[in-house]
Amino acid sequence: MARREISPEEARALAAIVGETHLLAAADDLAPYAKDWTRDLVAVPAAVARPRSTEEVSRLLAFCNERALPVTPQGGRTGMSGGALAVFGGLGLALDRMTSILEIDADNFVAVAEPGVVTQTLQEAVEEKGLYYPPDPASRGSCTIGGNVAENAGGPHAAKYGVTGRWVMGLEAVFADGSVAVTGGKTRKDVAGYDLTSLLVGSEGTLAVVTKAWLRLIAKPAAGATVLAPFPSLESAARAVFEIHRRGLVPSACEVVDRPAVEVVSRHKGVAVPFPEAEARLLLDFDGAAEEDVEREVTRAGEVLLECGALDVALAADEPRRRALWDVRRGIAEAIHELGVSFELDLAVPRSELVALVTGVRKRAAEAHLTAFAYGHAADGNLHVRLLRERSSAFDEAAVEAVIAAIYEETVALGGTIAGEHGVGLTLRKFLPLRRPPAFCAAMRAVKAALDPKGILNPGKLVPDAA
Ligand code: MLT
Ligand code: ZN
Repeated sequence: MARREISPEEARALAAIVGETHLLAAADDLAPYAKDWTRDLVAVPAAVARPRSTEEVSRLLAFCNERALPVTPQGGRTGMSGGALAVFGGLGLALDRMTSILEIDADNFVAVAEPGVVTQTLQEAVEEKGLYYPPDPASRGSCTIGGNVAENAGGPHAAKYGVTGRWVMGLEAVFADGSVAVTGGKTRKDVAGYDLTSLLVGSEGTLAVVTKAWLRLIAKPAAGATVLAPFPSLESAARAVFEIHRRGLVPSACEVVDRPAVEVVSRHKGVAVPFPEAEARLLLDFDGAAEEDVEREVTRAGEVLLECGALDVALAADEPRRRALWDVRRGIAEAIHELGVSFELDLAVPRSELVALVTGVRKRAAEAHLTAFAYGHAADGNLHVRLLRERSSAFDEAAVEAVIAAIYEETVALGGTIAGEHGVGLTLRKFLPLRRPPAFCAAMRAVKAALDPKGILNPGKLVPDAA
């Protein structure tokens, strides 16, 4: 597919739908919509429309479908697989004006939100009412509900609470031809028809544009504590994660961070971290309805961690200390980003294979003399690996690609996946057949062709080409 520009006549028609000021076409205005958090990739849309309502989204899509104009839906643009990049030009569809929390229904434990609501904003709004929306990607301060739904985003607390899809009860979605479907709502059980909600969750903007989401809430856990445990090696930390769960403990989050990642973030934030010499550390959260329950779990966890070789165990029970530890963890992506371009791998394996994964990745990176950072959601066997591109011109990109391909193959051989929580998007599309068999990829193409026959929605993403 070649790059698609937008003619003056098309621009006028699009502006008539969203209003002059909300159709952007000047280079300066388009610049922020040309990037997400994926390496240094840039793709400038021919124009960006910023609709305010479902009706406007519907009219935009109907028009683009008629003209076979590519549409790239965009949320907070914090994705790390290039999903929000308008690689064929066309229209960027920014949902950043649809930012209303429409309802927090405390009786039914449901929030209804527009796609542009920032995830943390929703979390804080429901917490004010004593409720809790757990999915918390590290970028929660700038990513959006629409983007989270599109990517089926995870985050640290997926360890206990699962990823975004588990919390989506229904969606209002606009299909490529402009038709609007509501797939669910506040009813907790509803098996009337195909589970379109689940199909659209994680479809990365290739099947429909989400314009509203009904999200399940729970009561906010009354008690919580955070435990930090330094380890002499990444492998011993990974082994402890397995053991913690094998003993029946259920941390609400269980993160692993290696020394290089801690050093970078501590430098970037200008804060000292406890146990700076440790090769790896685990950060665990426990929560519950009563202080005593949390205390009991924390005590048992401490025992298991020490048994597994932890050099120490530090407890943070008060909010400021817990927040300080989590700020360091959540700041890793940004800190590494500042170092320059890095290749981001989002690997996930069965928890029992985490040690093998960590060992294999380290070996591959060392063999290729690459600076590697490893951290992530250990309870889910989900390891983020960053391979830093050296600034020198001698940097051999092809060799790095070969290392990455080898790591993906080894991950899949362990029963794991190439995309734990960051989606497939642009950068992993060519690797998808490593993880999914031909019949799976063919089914994806069939679904895509049925719902978006002209292929206008987020072209070049997720759905692999036929062999
Ligand atoms: C995280 O866990 O920090 C995010 O998924 C972003 C990243 O991989 O760096
Ligand atoms: Zn993550």
